[in-house]
Amino acid sequence: MPSAIFKKVVLAARPDGRPNLDNFRLDTGPMPSIPSDGLLLRTLYLSLDPYMRGRMDDRRSYAPALALGDVMPGECVVEVIASNHAEYSRGDIVLAQTGWQSHAISDGRGLRRLDARDAPLTTGLGVLGMPGFTAWSGLTLIGKPRLGETVVVAAATGPVGSLVGQLAKKAGARTVGIAGGPEKCRYLMNDLGFDAAIDHRVSDFRKQLAIACPGGIDVYFENVGGTVWSAVLPHLNRFARVPVCGLISQNGGAGAAEHDQLPATMRAVLTLSLTMRGFINFEFADEHFPTFLRSVTSDVANGTIKYREDVTVGLENAPRAFIGMLQGHNFGKALVDLTDG
Ligand SMILES: NC(=O)c1ccc[n+]([C@@H]2O[C@H](COP(=O)([O-])OP(=O)(O)OC[C@H]3O[C@@H](n4cnc5c(N)ncnc54)[C@H](OP(=O)(O)O)[C@@H]3O)[C@@H](O)[C@H]2O)c1
Repeated sequence: MPSAIFKKVVLAARPDGRPNLDNFRLDTGPMPSIPSDGLLLRTLYLSLDPYMRGRMDDRRSYAPALALGDVMPGECVVEVIASNHAEYSRGDIVLAQTGWQSHAISDGRGLRRLDARDAPLTTGLGVLGMPGFTAWSGLTLIGKPRLGETVVVAAATGPVGSLVGQLAKKAGARTVGIAGGPEKCRYLMNDLGFDAAIDHRVSDFRKQLAIACPGGIDVYFENVGGTVWSAVLPHLNRFARVPVCGLISQNGGAGAAEHDQLPATMRAVLTLSLTMRGFINFEFADEHFPTFLRSVTSDVANGTIKYREDVTVGLENAPRAFIGMLQGHNFGKALVDLTDG
């Protein structure tokens, strides 16, 4: 039975580097009351995403920092449990930016309807949602892989990397995935059809990457930075494209930062005529989200695009799952299931 207790996870203290459990606090309180023209929502699934780590710092970024005591942000699959809104009824299921809490109110703006007959509801937080669109837009609009080119992606079993690899393969490229551990590498090769998979935790990672990319790298989809970027850099081909999507190694992820790669990076940008383009998915959303959704929904439905989820049960376990995700303990899209309250 769904719980009637209101629970939320707030930012208790700012992390210094990698977050720990003391940075979060689980608060309980009275149920929010429904606005006269709005909605009362119950969270079913919460998405855990690397960007949340950045929001915990008090520094300039593309989104405002959280204040201490703020609810941790996040996109959720929610159920409308009461409605005073003309366009939504009790029982409707929508995506909403309601954060790490069991219930929320909404004025109805910024919601996206979901229909379980189209795809499992949780895909709206992963392959058919923000991470999927990030993969699609970064690869299609910036990476632009061509037949026979080599595309490399790290964090390759996550929701962004796994779709990047599958879309690149579909475009006729040779795909090389980088992931943490042999099980993830086996999944890339056996289930997702990558041409090669390399474990970035092994001591001869650089050597293995060189062997996997005999013709160099034409597209490197940057998800992690740090030691992986250092290993990729010497193999980039002339006119290579580098969509810079994420730098999780600098953002509370696993692994220590390496020495400064800026001079080597700038030299490669110049001498190889590289295109490095940072992007945040929402800059492309108005123009391209419908195209992405149409195309990837049908590929998910017919099984040509595969996805994997890593589900943690209970809001109180969200901090631990989030900290683990930053270090690679997740195997697939990190989600929290709140359906039991
Ligand atoms: N620009 C945008 O709009 C946008 C939107 C969404 C996501 N992103 C970025 O895309 C990247 C992937 O996101 P996601 O949601 O798909 O996350 P994810 O892959 O499910 O989780 C992050 C993964 O990063 C890997 N990782 C952590 N530290 C690492 C390190 N030092 N070296 C190599 N790999 C490391 C871990 O996988 P392994 O076990 O394989 O190491 C971990 O599972 C993140 O950087 C995220 O910030 C950007």
